Amino acid sequence: MSEAPRLRAIVLGSGAGGGVPQWNCGCRVCRLAWGGDPRVSWRTQSGLAVSADAERWLLLNASIDLRQQILATPALRPRGEGRHSPIAAVLLTGTDVDIAGGLLTLRERQPLTIWGTRQTLDTIAGNRIFSVVADDIAPRRAVALGEAFEPLPGLKVELFPTPGKVPLWLEEGDVSTDIEGEHTVGAAVEVAGRQLLYIPGCSRVTEALHARIGACHALFFDGTLYADDEMIRTGLGEKTGRRMGHLPVSGPGGSLESLAPHKSVRRIYVHINNSNPMLIEGSREAQAAAAAGWEIGRDGMEVSP
Ligand code: MLT
Ligand code: MN
Ligand code: ZN
Repeated sequence: MSEAPRLRAIVLGSGAGGGVPQWNCGCRVCRLAWGGDPRVSWRTQSGLAVSADAERWLLLNASIDLRQQILATPALRPRGEGRHSPIAAVLLTGTDVDIAGGLLTLRERQPLTIWGTRQTLDTIAGNRIFSVVADDIAPRRAVALGEAFEPLPGLKVELFPTPGKVPLWLEEGDVSTDIEGEHTVGAAVEVAGRQLLYIPGCSRVTEALHARIGACHALFFDGTLYADDEMIRTGLGEKTGRRMGHLPVSGPGGSLESLAPHKSVRRIYVHINNSNPMLIEGSREAQAAAAAGWEIGRDGMEVSP
């Protein structure tokens, strides 16, 4: 490594589950996207790549769009002859399909380390299909919340709880959306004193999160729905954003309001659902987010906080 270590991040996917446009959707945003309207960029399902040396990369989440994201990202393509990948490690912040399903893409006997909470790794281990990513070559390493670790040299990571719920496919009966535990976590990534937070799922901003956000340099945050009742109002679904474990962007307690104190932090929305009108450039909602100092994440966006 010739250059000094520096934190680099690439937004691999800025969409939520389903991406933009979603395969079976004709909502307003998806219709514009299908029609090639320049105001709506296509987006894959959420993920971030981070590195300290631009040689070896840690993936924050492996969505089911991971193969497409690797094809679109020169930094993640193999180099030289034979088998190789710059992807040296993967960290999972949960086990939803758009968080962990892409592990299956990484099944071609490539050495890498898979990091997550004990609960996340146990959930993955409980699904036998993931054993195609054989642990003799891709070992899984459990980390405790609040415990710093170094998945790549010079890259320091810590996981912290973000209020949320069990993954959709494990929901049963009454579902609590305010669990602060190992199911849904955020990641703090630090290189040479610069730090970013990756929080693709969060149902409430706690005091502990405020403290972390106030101290970071860049925040990638849950922008799933603009309005809590947007899926219901548009006839796309029956759940509010909060019921899905995602606080809305607008409204009381939404992220525009809750995170307004953190204007000095670079704030970028990710995990944005295709129903969210702020995905339409120039829309009232996009303007409101921009006026509050937020950037709307795009696939391929590079951030070096
Ligand atoms: C979510 O973020 O709520 C999930 O990704 C839902 C899903 O798996 O589609
Ligand atoms: Mn999701
Ligand atoms: Zn849609």
